[in-house]
Amino acid sequence: MSLAENTRIQHDQWWADAVIYQIYPRSFADADANGMGDLQGVRSRLPYLSQLGVDAIWLSPFYLSPQADAGYDVADYRAVDPLFGGMKDFDAMLAEAHSMGIRVIVDLVPNHTSDQHEWFQDALTATPGSAARERYIFRDGKGPGGALPPNNWQSIFGGNAWTRVQDGQWYLHLFDTSQPDLNWENPEVHSEMESVLRFWLDRGVDGFRIDVAHGMIKADGLPDWHAKTSMVEGSDAETPPYFDQEGVHEIYQHWNKVLSEYDGDRMLVAEAWVEPAERLFRYVRPDEMQQAFNFGFLLAGWDAVRMAESINESLEEAGKVGAPATWVLSNHDTVRHSTRYGLTDPTTFPKGISAEDEQPDEELGLARGRAAALTMLALPGSAYIYQGDELGLPEHTTLDASVRQDPAFFRTNGEEIGRDGCRVPIPWTGAAPGYGFAENPEAASPWLPQPDSFAKYAADQQVGLDSSTYELYRQALSIRAERKLGQGTVAWTSLHAPADGVLSYRNGDLTLVVNAGTRPVRLPAGAEVLLASQPDAVTDNALQPNRAVWLV
Ligand code: GLC
Repeated sequence: MSLAENTRIQHDQWWADAVIYQIYPRSFADADANGMGDLQGVRSRLPYLSQLGVDAIWLSPFYLSPQADAGYDVADYRAVDPLFGGMKDFDAMLAEAHSMGIRVIVDLVPNHTSDQHEWFQDALTATPGSAARERYIFRDGKGPGGALPPNNWQSIFGGNAWTRVQDGQWYLHLFDTSQPDLNWENPEVHSEMESVLRFWLDRGVDGFRIDVAHGMIKADGLPDWHAKTSMVEGSDAETPPYFDQEGVHEIYQHWNKVLSEYDGDRMLVAEAWVEPAERLFRYVRPDEMQQAFNFGFLLAGWDAVRMAESINESLEEAGKVGAPATWVLSNHDTVRHSTRYGLTDPTTFPKGISAEDEQPDEELGLARGRAAALTMLALPGSAYIYQGDELGLPEHTTLDASVRQDPAFFRTNGEEIGRDGCRVPIPWTGAAPGYGFAENPEAASPWLPQPDSFAKYAADQQVGLDSSTYELYRQALSIRAERKLGQGTVAWTSLHAPADGVLSYRNGDLTLVVNAGTRPVRLPAGAEVLLASQPDAVTDNALQPNRAVWLV
């Protein structure tokens, strides 16, 4: 059976083939000139996104937070942090996005709160065994006087996953000390998060990206774990006792029902670093979430065999549960793909890059990044673009340790460089201070310094310039929409030879050919190049290495 016959995807919901643009509010656009992006900044740049042709935006957290993990430490799920504006700014941004036909997805962080959340502050002053402590995962320690942590779990950000409080008990935090894990065995936690969902649904959001969606339920008895702790579990690894436990699915079955009470095809997308694909697609069974990020595709790197495998596997597993596949190359937690692709091994997945590490070949990485974008954007399903992907932005690979903010950098004593390099504020204007991150020339410096190379990547240097990365994305999105590629199917063509670095599929009348190999690839005689990843992609009817084309 061909993949085309094997998929049973439905297309009556907007998200099934949507192109969703991730906004990292801290770094998108700074309207109030304080060096930090904000919701008014997002609003001001909606016309740019509309012109680019995205269907939806997903906003990383903008809620009240001490910002110990850049807002993924939420102190109040129903309030906007003054850093980003107020609720009226959110409402205005939402209304304007909707008026342009752009849907809005917000981030929900249900695995943990901030230690500044009222609940955790109450838990700290409450006694062991109290209702306030039962909202989190407090335990007595082991050993004499309970001086040792309750188990051997390590934090994803490095160091112990337990912190001791004054009366001697310990609380669990899979991430930073300031991010205590909630106790999802407690019905009060369920009803509180349901109420948070309803709060934002009532305001009119179109969906939620669920943070650490595979993490909320922990195995009974919190057993020790013998392997390394990481967000990315290898497909041959056993399941750790704190990830991908069966119980998480009940939560999503319930949330599915909550969403279905609202009109307009509201959706949930899972951030679940779960392998293999068969386990991941359990999160998008018909009565659970609508989408899950396809990190398998992101992790494939620049390698035709790995990309083809991921595409096959994803379409097959998606087909089995009747869900659309999704595709993503970068986000706020990963080294940007055009930088990863410029490393000696373009399939590596470094946890940040510093000046002491191997530096990427920027030009090569960008060429491959553009080709990968064409590879992704002709695929059926839904595609995610991380802010700056459309500008071909590289990672900042030489940030000084003194400006780093990622808790992972500090918790590992700098061993893990962390995620700051992909979170650098967006360059809008090549010749302006801060590259126009704030339009006000008197603005405070951006919260993370931008590399000099950002001048040439700035949006104003690219919009309207035919050969630019921005125009490549804009044209690709326009063709994708026009030809309904998101609703199509994949059929490998006779050119498809992943072992030789060539990946080629047909979707409708369009053929994608990407050359991840080292030799030119002869294209079929008479094929017309509809879009090329760069002007020099084809010479003598042969597709050059590190390039891609859409043919008709
Ligand atoms: C998710 C977020 C990441 C955050 C972590 C803890 O992985 O994407 O940025 O640090 O969860 O909330």
